[in-house]
Amino acid sequence: MVDAVTIVNAGFKLSIDKIKNFEVRSDDIFLLTFQKSGTTWMKEILPLVMNGGDIDAITGTPRDVLIPHIEFQLSVDEDPVMREVQKQFLVPDGFQLDQLVSPRMLGSHLRSEFLPRDIDEKRVKVIYVARNPKDVAISSYYFCKGALSSRIETNEPVKAKAYQDFSEFLPEFFEIKARTHKVHYDGTKWHEHVLPWWERRHDRNVLFLKYEDMIRDLKACVRQIAEFLDVHLTDGAVDKISDHCSFQSMKNNQMALKSNFCTNVLGVKAEEGSPFVRIGGVGGWKNTFTVAQNETFDEIYQEWIKGSDLEMTFEL
Ligand code: A3P
Repeated sequence: MVDAVTIVNAGFKLSIDKIKNFEVRSDDIFLLTFQKSGTTWMKEILPLVMNGGDIDAITGTPRDVLIPHIEFQLSVDEDPVMREVQKQFLVPDGFQLDQLVSPRMLGSHLRSEFLPRDIDEKRVKVIYVARNPKDVAISSYYFCKGALSSRIETNEPVKAKAYQDFSEFLPEFFEIKARTHKVHYDGTKWHEHVLPWWERRHDRNVLFLKYEDMIRDLKACVRQIAEFLDVHLTDGAVDKISDHCSFQSMKNNQMALKSNFCTNVLGVKAEEGSPFVRIGGVGGWKNTFTVAQNETFDEIYQEWIKGSDLEMTFEL
């Protein structure tokens, strides 16, 4: 359990109380994800579903303004590092969540117990995206290689420790270690994030989606999202959204790539490409995991999901 004021992966301070007491509007829509599970992808899809597939309407707007992360936004007043990070995400100075017109779309990587009380009390709509944890581990590895490390020790932003290889990273993905909050966003392991939402997947206000199903059939997922949000989409709009949100199209989309954040905060060289739209797909872990790592992963994963009927897809 992490205490009331905690520190999350980019090294910023966050008041959990402030988040828990955040006033939610009854028509807010929340996009909730464990990190590296398709958040950027869904931040492209959702606004288009909401506006009926009007790509021009979102072209010039940074995705983190369209769907701001509440924990980032609520910490900018207190934390200069977070203010800087938000600037790199192209969020204008002085931007406030209550400036957004309803229905607001809000994002968060926080686990369920840290989220605003109102989400439950007002039964607002939640779209949850889960991705198989082997691909999440690989994706997190590439992300953490460049990410800012935590400020727990120095209270200053410092560059992440350079992982020599994946074998150095993997144990930190399994365990929450005091100084590796960058691996575990708010001290939460994959299953602690995913399972509470899986258990609520039949609630009327919850849409639980799997990244792998989006890869398998994006159009079907776009339709499912539209239905959940009570939006009528024509077949043409579904096609348009799915084409625009394909991996290749997003790879060339500067707004989706968050290029300033990647170059200025993560220190990623332009030629290395963005870790937010990197390789995508299902089963990439097989190119990196050794047989032994895979066996260890399977053992730990079985322990994580013991007693749950959740089934994730690890390869297609
Ligand atoms: P990889 O690192 O495996 O390539 P998040 O946005 O939650 O940080 O997740 C990032 C992951 O989503 C990255 O995975 C990224 O490539 C993948 N992703 C982003 N856009 C995508 C798209 N249009 N189609 C498939 N995967 C996408």
